Amino acid sequence: MPTKTPLDAIPSDPRLEITLRPALLEQFVGQLRIKERLDVLIAAAKQRGDSLEHLLFCGPPGLGKTSLAHIVAKAMGANITTTSGPVIEKAGDLAGLLTTLQKGDVLFIDEIHRLNKNIEEYLYPAMEDFRLDIIIDQGPNARSVRLNLPRFTLIGATTRAGMISAPLRSRFGLVNRLDYYPAEDLQKVIIRSARLLELEIETAAALEIARRSRGTPRIANNLLRWVRDYALVRSTPPVTVATADAALAMLEIDQDGLDEMDKRLLEALIHKFDGGPVGLNSLAVSVGEEPGTLEEVHEPYLIMEGFLKRTPQGRVAAKRAYDKLGLKPSGSQQELL
Ligand SMILES: Nc1ncnc2c1ncn2[C@@H]1O[C@H](COP(=O)(O)OP(=O)(O)OP(=O)(O)O)[C@@H](O)[C@H]1O
Ligand SMILES: [Mg+2]
Repeated sequence: MPTKTPLDAIPSDPRLEITLRPALLEQFVGQLRIKERLDVLIAAAKQRGDSLEHLLFCGPPGLGKTSLAHIVAKAMGANITTTSGPVIEKAGDLAGLLTTLQKGDVLFIDEIHRLNKNIEEYLYPAMEDFRLDIIIDQGPNARSVRLNLPRFTLIGATTRAGMISAPLRSRFGLVNRLDYYPAEDLQKVIIRSARLLELEIETAAALEIARRSRGTPRIANNLLRWVRDYALVRSTPPVTVATADAALAMLEIDQDGLDEMDKRLLEALIHKFDGGPVGLNSLAVSVGEEPGTLEEVHEPYLIMEGFLKRTPQGRVAAKRAYDKLGLKPSGSQQELL
């Protein structure tokens, strides 16, 4: 389930996401360390004729967690069943999912940090010993029934690694943290997507879109889709830097890839809260956004790019935020930088 991305102006197109989703590890751009590890794990499991160990993918939205889950299942020649944390409400829901799996199959639980604590307890023995003990009936008739499960692989994905409990985390054989992509990698994603969309684009134009995609492949593809539409109506092929630039200017996506909400957040931080420190909730109210969305979607990129800092006292504007808004930090603000 695609989580909210910052570019509300052009929401994801689910059909396109499927078309552009890499199906093989070789097609998955970047994240070399993760790919190497998965390559080894998959080859070893195949050689042993065993199922793959449980995997967890963490990282901000749109970096490729769901894609990797599908790639892994395909590489193992396994079926994949997809669900999401909040959907599994009762132990019976989990039992229903687990008992339909065959040996080696993958159960993909998206947003696994939102799994009910009570369900988590059922998951532990299922992951460890491939058994499920469920209580049936109530009152004096209540009894526990043990179900033996096939050796399946659980793949979990989360945008909130910090919210995964330690016992759950420890039951994954491998925890993979996806990082934002450098512009050169996103350029490759864009060139690949353009080919699939039969769109002619200059490599420099692809790099220009890449630089403004917040390190995120989903955003790169969304921006490319917009540039394609713009180019169709306003220019002739191939897409040049000038065309890409004009198209992105129309969406008000600036040179650093910041969108309206990013800019509102930095402005509020500096103008309303004197550069901080300010708590997440106050900041969220002042820009009219959910605290969770600020924390998961906007802040990680602003922090990585040096616009914002998280301190124990709260959020603080960093030097680049002042530069961006063309301001000079005051004396007290200087001390926080
Ligand atoms: N490394 C990559 N190489 C090529 N394309 C990629 C890569 N990573 C992601 N994409 C593209 O970005 C889209 C979004 O990726 P995906 O759905 O896997 O992200 P996600 O991490 O699961 O996001 P969310 O947290 O929102 O569920 C995919 O459809 C795919 O087209
Ligand atoms: Mg996903």
